[in-house]
Amino acid sequence: MDPKVSKADADLRKMLAEKRIKSVEDRRVGSEVFDQKTLKTLYKLANSNYINILNGAISTGKEANVFKGIHEDGHIVAVKIYRIATSDFKKMQYYIQGDPRFRVRTTNKRHLVDDWVNKEFRNLNRCLEANMDVPKPVVVKNNVLIMEFIGDEDGNPAPTLKDHGPEDPEAMLEILIEAMKKMYQDAQLVHGDLSVFNILNHHEKPVIIDVSQSMVVDHPISMELLERDIENLLRDFKKFGVSASSEDVKKEITGKIESNSSILKR
Ligand SMILES: Nc1ncnc2c1ncn2[C@@H]1O[C@H](COP(=O)(O)OP(=O)(O)OP(=O)(O)O)[C@@H](O)[C@H]1O
Ligand SMILES: [Mg+2]
Repeated sequence: MDPKVSKADADLRKMLAEKRIKSVEDRRVGSEVFDQKTLKTLYKLANSNYINILNGAISTGKEANVFKGIHEDGHIVAVKIYRIATSDFKKMQYYIQGDPRFRVRTTNKRHLVDDWVNKEFRNLNRCLEANMDVPKPVVVKNNVLIMEFIGDEDGNPAPTLKDHGPEDPEAMLEILIEAMKKMYQDAQLVHGDLSVFNILNHHEKPVIIDVSQSMVVDHPISMELLERDIENLLRDFKKFGVSASSEDVKKEITGKIESNSSILKR
């Protein structure tokens, strides 16, 4: 193993081991404070060699933090850690109810978050099987999801489409509609929170992320969510100078239109 990585490995193990036994006031990873159980989960993932070190935070959100982790062999992974305390349980319950893959365990918030993260992991796998460009999931444990890092070799994460618009918006929108079609028809999922915030611009190739709330198509509200996703995406792309009819895009995604006919208004 690269000596730098093995030093980092030793540091993480030491750090996590110490955190496990320290007081409630000291539960930090970087500048983040996590509960004991989350630290224990990270420690176990480190012990199983999924991550050797957590360094730079990529994103600090309301519900989840995404860190760069270094895997045993030195390559970077993305580590998404859901916070138990600030998670929106109402939203999670709303989205998880009616999904035949999950039994709702409404009484235990931690279990609900764990189910939610598990749902993201399984949804990523379904998207991958449908040949979509999504981060490849590596492992899920409790409230921690490890997945492929989307970015360059120097460790710079790919920007979102919000921060880095497409050079060729028309081409990008076509790829995204094709991706939504694969998601709907092959993965049998609807994203549910699709916008420029949840699409990474990886060297002009769109990579869809954040599929925790994504729903199976036979869920009662999936069509409503698909329509909202289309509206949001088209609104974002209008700002980039491309227009399309949401009805036509919906037909294309759900398979009710000849796939060759162009639906973009030029
Ligand atoms: N696999 C990845 N590779 C590189 N960067 C990533 C990856 N996954 C997420 N990110 C970065 O982390 C950010 C947040 O990720 P994500 O959208 O999955 O979380 P979130 O659920 O929106 O979090 P919150 O709602 O709490 O802000 C993304 O906008 C992106 O910048
Ligand atoms: Mg997001």
